[in-house]
This record gives sequence, structure tokens and C-alpha cells, in this order.
Amino acid sequence: MSQGNFYITTPIYYPSAQLHIGHAYCTVATDAYARYKRMQGYNVMFLTGTDEHGQKIEEKAKAAGVTPQQFVDNIVEGKNGILDLWKLMNISNTRFIRTTDDYHVAAIQKIFRKMYEKGDIYKGSYKGMYCTPCESFWTESQLVDGKCPDCGREVQPAEEEAYFFRLSKYADRIRELLTTTDFLEPASRVNEMVRNFIDPGLEDLCVSRTSFTWGVPVDFDPGHVVYVWVDALFNYTTALGFMNEKYDDFDAFWPADLHFVGKEIVRFHSIIWPAMLMSMEMPLPKKVFGHGWLNFNGEKMSKSRGNVVDPYLLASRYGVDALRFFLLRDVAFGSDGNFTNEALFSRINSDLANDLGNLVSRTVAMVQKYFGGTLPTEREAEPIDDELISMAKALRDVYQHNMDHFAPQNAIAEVFRVISRANKYIDETAPWILAKDEAKRVRLATVMYNLLESVRLATTLLQPMIPASCEKIFFQIGANAEMATWEKAVEFGVLPADVTVQKGETLFPRIDIEKELQELDAIAKANAEPAAPAEPEKPAIEHLPDITYDDFMAGELRVCKVLTCERVKKADKLLQFTLFDGERERTILSGIAQWYAPEDLIGKKVIVVCNLAPRKIRGVVSEGMILSADMGDAAKVVFVDDAVPEGSRVR
Ligand code: MSP
Repeated sequence: MSQGNFYITTPIYYPSAQLHIGHAYCTVATDAYARYKRMQGYNVMFLTGTDEHGQKIEEKAKAAGVTPQQFVDNIVEGKNGILDLWKLMNISNTRFIRTTDDYHVAAIQKIFRKMYEKGDIYKGSYKGMYCTPCESFWTESQLVDGKCPDCGREVQPAEEEAYFFRLSKYADRIRELLTTTDFLEPASRVNEMVRNFIDPGLEDLCVSRTSFTWGVPVDFDPGHVVYVWVDALFNYTTALGFMNEKYDDFDAFWPADLHFVGKEIVRFHSIIWPAMLMSMEMPLPKKVFGHGWLNFNGEKMSKSRGNVVDPYLLASRYGVDALRFFLLRDVAFGSDGNFTNEALFSRINSDLANDLGNLVSRTVAMVQKYFGGTLPTEREAEPIDDELISMAKALRDVYQHNMDHFAPQNAIAEVFRVISRANKYIDETAPWILAKDEAKRVRLATVMYNLLESVRLATTLLQPMIPASCEKIFFQIGANAEMATWEKAVEFGVLPADVTVQKGETLFPRIDIEKELQELDAIAKANAEPAAPAEPEKPAIEHLPDITYDDFMAGELRVCKVLTCERVKKADKLLQFTLFDGERERTILSGIAQWYAPEDLIGKKVIVVCNLAPRKIRGVVSEGMILSADMGDAAKVVFVDDAVPEGSRVR
């Protein structure tokens, strides 16, 4: 039975080339809540996406020698990009928005215009200090010793035309929203907002820029692009179909039930966002929850050293669910947490391998050993069963209380209290002794059934956190989907009396912490400092028969620019390129993946044999060959100076 609609969001991510485990944090937490609500019977809309505009992207794309669109496409859709990360982490989002999507861009223009026509956006001038060589505006406080913080040169006072949003007009209503409702949680964030931003007085916000072009153009004043945060925040509504025809879910799902955001962007979500919605006369989201940061020994994750934080590598070694579990269990949601490889391993060993994994494997093994896998149906209860059964039956309520109070770490801890209790029940009832006495067979079956039921109930409630592992457990204990529902999580006695178990793979292998740390250390070192290049061996000179001048000139060698480059799935050696050859884009496959990462090549200029007969490799037509120097067991691409235009003939 549907409990109604529930709309939950994550922030939309800046395309970042180096995704780390901290990036996964917010989306994994949101995914757990989306799954939790679905389990309770809500019709959940779960949105995530990417925030792709802004000066930084424009600059990074320029540095990489590609267009901003190519740059973001590669990070969002390319191998090990953002979409891949969410697939890897088993994220169950309903929708994915990119702020470069046409429907979103057009909607943002309408929204901006509406606030302008209302008078809440007005044209003014932005005063600051200008660094001409960098073409950047700085406020006084951003300057370093009165000079440009980027290049250290002199700056001049300057004024730039810009649009402003009347944030000041909404100051009183925002204060009331934050201080008299539970719009923003946890409470500590409310105090921070009021003290740091509301009390000093809200100033109008500059909402357009003219110093770069990679953004949503203000349609009634070309030359201005909409400030990225205005563009980004409204994603929560455009993705439902607000001011566009792409979707039709706005009436059903707005206002959002829950925005999860990291603490550093709480200001945008709890002050600027509601003020703009007030201006648009739209209902406000029901709740913004500001979670903490996952740090590495007190430092931001991006600076972490000597610690492996790559989610792909971690997931391939320890499993996605182990990562999800760590993020949700080890960090008190709302506070900062610390990520270390060691903490991850301890958590895997203590909770997943020892407590949960062991309980499941011991129980299944005993049912197989003592009953050939299928329980007889007679039962014989004893008082010693009562505590386990009543704890298991009471679990859902405490779990729900903790989930609803944004403490998934405590909800999980409650589940593990039941798991520990069940492990203790094995010691107390000593099934191996019961098994020796034929007269105790019914009692033994009862003990086994109670254990299986405890596992079923605990696993049901772990589904939002470690969904794939739960499925494996249900298979092993003979539970089907109907026995794993929210409703059935308060009943004891749901598995059929003659349940049949199946032995399965080890769910969570124990980690040899010392050994594993050493291995990861070696990987981290290898990634941090590439080994000093070995003295290249003298190449064996090949002598080929002479060719004529005309033979040589028959080869059409041209300078081409690498637009995109990605690894070819299931082909370790191949990279697939799109290159611009001066006239058109061409696709080339090249077997140099062992020596180059795609990001090393994007934007570079190379020499291509353009009139080499096209050849089909792995279903893709390769139109030419990229020249590289053959070093025996390595290849070095021949790069061309960036000043040489694409299409230049090489001879
Ligand atoms: N694009 C903005 C959000 C716009 S929402 C309308 C943005 N993007 S972000 O990529 O920088 O961050 C996305 C989310 O990831 C944020 O909630 C941020 O707090 C979170 N995290 C990024 N690194 C993190 C950790 N190391 N730890 C926890 N969360 C962190 O902000």
C-alpha cells in the first residue's frame, strides 16, 4: 500500500576528475534513505545529478584544450566518471539531471526572468578589485597583501555591471524559518547560519557574471550568465518538470521532502534557496539536512596522502557493501568522520565478517549438518528464547526512530545488537550438544528456526544500507521478497516452518589487516610518486629497404588534436580517441592504454597517418594511426607543439 510520494535529493556534483570515497558519502546516505522510504511503501523520487557550469569548468577545459562541454561529458559519462561511480555504489536514483541539459537551461532562463520581472532581481554594479592580466574580480578580503591572489600582480578598483537578487528583502522570513521551524537540521547548523549570516545582515546577492561565458545566458541581456548557484539550486525543481515540458512530476513531488547536503553548502540551501523560492512564490522544501565531512586524519579527503581513497579500487578489493556500510556506520551522520583504510578494515572484520557473516554461515551450516538443509516443522519453545525473540520484534521501532532522527549509524547499531544477541544465543543453547541427543531434535529445530528468523528480520532492516548482500543472505536462509518487507519486520515466525537453506559464498571475507595495509601502502606509493624512469635501452636499429620520395609523400600525416579519449571496455591495451584533423572529427583506436591514461592525452596535439585504410577493431572503425616512438616494451606518443594548427601536414 502506497504511503504517498516522497522526494529526496542529493546535491548535484561538480564534475571532478578525481573522485574519492568522500564524494560517495552524501549519495550513499541519500540512497539508504531512498531505499528506507521505498521499503516503507513510499513512492520515492530520488534525484541526483551534476552541476556543470561556471568559471572553474571553463578554465579547466581550457587547460585541457577541450571545450567545456567535452570536458564535462568526459567526467560525467566517461569511464570511471560520475555515472559509473553511482552504478558502482549501487545508487538507486530515479533521475539524473545535468545542468547542461537543454530543458534545464531553458527553464533557468524563464525563472531568472520571472524574478527579474517581479523586481526581485535588479541590475546594479559589482564593485571590486580587478586584475587585468587574469581578468578576475576580487573583493578586498580576497586579496593577498593587496595584490591578486592568483598572480600576485597589482589590482585596480573596478566596477562591473551585474544583476542582484534581493536577498535582504527575505531576511526576516528566513530568520523565522530557521529559528521557529525544523526546516534545517541538525540544530547546530541553524546556530551557525544565524550567527554567521543572518545576524550580521543579509546583503543582496550578485546573480550574474560577465567575465566568462560557460553558463546559462541571461536571455534578455546577452553577455551576462546566470550565477552557478541560481542555476544549480533550481535543478531540484526543473528535474520534476518545473518551467519545462521534459517531465511532468512537479505537482506530485514538490515540495521536496528532504534535501541532503554537505555542511559547506548549507548556507546556499537554507538561506539563498528558500529566499529564491519565496520570490518565486513556491512552497519550500520540508527539510534540509546538513551532514558532516568525511576527512582523512583531520584533513580534507582531497589532500589525503598514503591512504587509498579511490572508490573503484576499494570496492574491487572489499566489495561495495563494505564501503557503503562503513560510510553509514562509522560516521555519525551530521558530524565529521575520519576515513582510514584501517578503520574500514576493522569495521568490516568486526561487524560484517565476525558478527553478521558468521551468524549467517554458522546457522546455515548447522541447519545443513543437523537437518540436511530443511527444518522439521515441530517446535519446542523454552524461556531462553524469549529475550532474542522480543528484541528482534522490537527492533523495527528503534530502528525507525533512529532513521527518522537522521542517525543511520544508530539504526545499524540496533540491528547489530540483535545480531550479537543471536550469536550469544548460539553459545547459550549449544546446538552441537543438542544434536548429540535424538530426544532434543525438536528443540534443536526450534533453536535453528529462531536463529533464521532473527537473521531474516535483521537483514530486512539492513537492506537500505547493504542491499546486494541482503539479497544473498535471503537466498541462503530461504526467504523470498515477501518475507523481507517492512511489514514483516515486526513479526517473528515468517519463514515457513519447513524452511530450506542453501549454502552460499562467504559474504564478507575477513581481512588480514596488516597484510592488506601493506598492499594498499604499496599501491598508494606507486600512485603518489611514479618510479624514476629507467635509463632507456638503446633501441635496436631496424634497416628497411629504401623507398622513393614519392612513396614517402604518399603518406598523409597530419597534426590532430585529441578531443576525447577513453579506455575500451574489456580491452586492456586499447584507447579510443576522437581527434580533430582540421576538417572533421575522426575515431582512432590505439594500443597504448598500458602507458597512457586518457586524461594525459586529452587536449594534446599528435601526428596521425590520416590516409591509412580504415580498419574495424572491436566493432569500431579506426580511421588512422597515431604516431609514437617504439621503445620495445613501451611506446611514447609524438606530441606536437600546441601552436601548430590542426590539419597541418607533417612531412
Ligand atoms: N555543485 C555543488 C552542489 C550544488 S547543489 C544545488 C557542490 N558540489 S560538490 O561536488 O562539491 O559536492 C557535492 C556533495 O559532496 C556536497 O554535499 C559535498 O559536501 C559532498 N562532499 C564532497 N566531498 C566530501 C567529503 N570528503 N565528505 C563528505 N561529503 C563531501 O557542492
